[in-house]
Amino acid sequence: MIKVLNIVGARPNFMKIAPVYAEMKRRGSEFDPLIVHTGQHYDAKMSDAFFNDLGMPEPEVYLGVGSDSHAAQTAKIMLAFEPVVLEHRPDWVLVVGDVNSTIACALVCSKLGIKVAHVEAGLRSYDRTMPEEINRILTDSISDLLLTPSPDGNKNLEKEGISGEKVKLVGNVMIDSLFRNLEFAKDSSIRKDLGLTEKEYAVVTLHRPSNVDDKKVFEGMLDSLAEISKDLPVVFPAHPRTASRIEEFGFAEKIDASDIRLIEPLGYLDFMQLFSGAKLVLTDSGGLQEETTALKIPCLTLRKNTERPITIDMGTNHLVGTDPEKIVNAALDILKSTNYAENATVPPLWDGKTAERICDAVVELK
Ligand code: UD1
Repeated sequence: MIKVLNIVGARPNFMKIAPVYAEMKRRGSEFDPLIVHTGQHYDAKMSDAFFNDLGMPEPEVYLGVGSDSHAAQTAKIMLAFEPVVLEHRPDWVLVVGDVNSTIACALVCSKLGIKVAHVEAGLRSYDRTMPEEINRILTDSISDLLLTPSPDGNKNLEKEGISGEKVKLVGNVMIDSLFRNLEFAKDSSIRKDLGLTEKEYAVVTLHRPSNVDDKKVFEGMLDSLAEISKDLPVVFPAHPRTASRIEEFGFAEKIDASDIRLIEPLGYLDFMQLFSGAKLVLTDSGGLQEETTALKIPCLTLRKNTERPITIDMGTNHLVGTDPEKIVNAALDILKSTNYAENATVPPLWDGKTAERICDAVVELK
């Protein structure tokens, strides 16, 4: 039996671990998988809702670290996780993505000689001011198995001298969860509750510090969203950080004066129904660039760079930056277009079978 501690910490981790954990369980005596939740995200709407929607069991271990500065949060996760590793002595620890929980747990294991598998390895924005970019580079440099979602990941790793049998292209595991749950998302009542009609609204998510912590940048984005909302309602489920900034910067009135509909963060299935029926998505999230690509929904990424270029080369994503005029023009182009996603394709291995390939790769390197 291969004992694996599967790490989740923040919202984008849950839908990546769920299919891997389910596949390990499905294989019976081959794997002994446990879930460890660091507690980086702890609000019911940022965490519990996802366990319910994804059918994941309660985590066996909950570290309860919560929010803090990057250094304190990372250090707290390391301090809390080390005794867990020593107690369980797993064969592998599986980390996903690029959040502080990812690097913290990987670092603990590398010092204890426990093997680390990194799912979503090799992605690079080449922007080191992004905390996630540091987490990605460091986690990849100490992982024993690097599971990439797309060929650009393999190329990036090769440039950093990481290659050979420990690097494997397995595809995008988030898309496993997406395909598995699309049917269930149809039962959500969110669109009806919000009084929306399919393809007649836009969805926006923003939470990157570089966008929402800078008053001028955030204000410009809200102005552009207000302009777009003259054409169609803009639904904006706000991350806790974003909601705090709206209050702190006094932006509530600006939002009220437009047809931007600010709502609380949504669960996985509600959000899936919402974005999958949108005419247009505007975001600074990494995962949403991929999910819109998989479903061929037009997406504008409000950032200067992306670690997921394949969503632009092959998918429906367009990197538009943070200039309000450019955002509005790009959105209007999409609203006018009748064939925006015509040439878009879903990248290879984004096929719903990535969790199987991840398990195979772990078994192979056992
Ligand atoms: C983290 C990840 C980011 C990911 C995002 C998804 C890092 C470095 N960043 O950013 O890559 O895209 O999660 O959401 O790991 N808060 C709550 N309740 C919660 C969680 C957070 O109120 O359950 C608030 C707190 O005020 C906290 C702030 O949000 O200080 C930021 O949370 P934190 O986990 O530090 O980073 P995120 O911005 O969520």
